[in-house]
Amino acid sequence: MEQVPPTEAAALLAQARRVVVFTGAGISAESGVPTFRDDLTGLWARFDATQLATPEAFHADPDLVWGWYEWRRARVRRARPNPGHLATAAIESLCPDTVLVTQNVDDLHERAGSRSPVHLHGSLFAPRCIGAGAHPAALSEPVEDEPADPGEGARIPPPRCAHCGWLVRPGVVWFGEALPEAALTAAVEAAAGCDVLLTVGTSGVVYPAAEIPLIAARRGAAVIQVNPEPTPLDDVSAVNLRGTAAQVLPALVAAARSAPR
Ligand code: APR
Repeated sequence: MEQVPPTEAAALLAQARRVVVFTGAGISAESGVPTFRDDLTGLWARFDATQLATPEAFHADPDLVWGWYEWRRARVRRARPNPGHLATAAIESLCPDTVLVTQNVDDLHERAGSRSPVHLHGSLFAPRCIGAGAHPAALSEPVEDEPADPGEGARIPPPRCAHCGWLVRPGVVWFGEALPEAALTAAVEAAAGCDVLLTVGTSGVVYPAAEIPLIAARRGAAVIQVNPEPTPLDDVSAVNLRGTAAQVLPALVAAARSAPR
């Protein structure tokens, strides 16, 4: 694949006062975490992700849906942050006023050293109670750091909230659900006020998250895109860096460090 030298993008980044890094499934692909649409392999292949990741599916068959999320959680736990995640954390040091907004439900940004990423689609590691207020689940057993791999296709009954007895559900945003209000507000405000938005590994087709780079572009920010494939965000991007996150981001950070500020 042709590598575009990141000189122009590095100059934009080095001179930016406020930066937003906006990431999607592509940044975790090189850690071995498959994109959502590639996720249903093996015994899970007979299911449709868009039908498992819904409130209706959980109500109809909570053991099936919880089992699928436990399997995903175990796989993420085994994955390690890749150079793309590490370079993202380095951008936060390079430009202290950086807000990291991710659509990913894994914790690889946190494990790479990023400070408080805004999780637009929730987290695999923040289960919620389905009772009133959807508060964080009170679990009698703590969520294990290294859960046993439940194996493909395993049905696992979800725990009950120790506080109120309702079922516990994955703390992720399912199809048809609203995004967490605080996260969406933080992302919109950051996008509206940044000079540079770096979008990495997202197809830019899932709304409302895909609005975030568009908001930045409309407010005059320079959008830099890192993706091996063309996306609808090509048109609003000042610079398109065609390549993978683990290839492009470390080179971009190195170039930004030596660019005039
Ligand atoms: N580096 C950078 N980008 C990559 C890489 C890589 N190594 N590998 C793949 N990509 C790109 C693909 O070209 C694609 O454009 O990552 C993008 C992944 O697109 P999606 O699977 O649609 O992921 P995302 O944009 O995060 O989807 C948004 O949709 O499935 C739901 O809730 C889920 O948060 C997810 C949301």
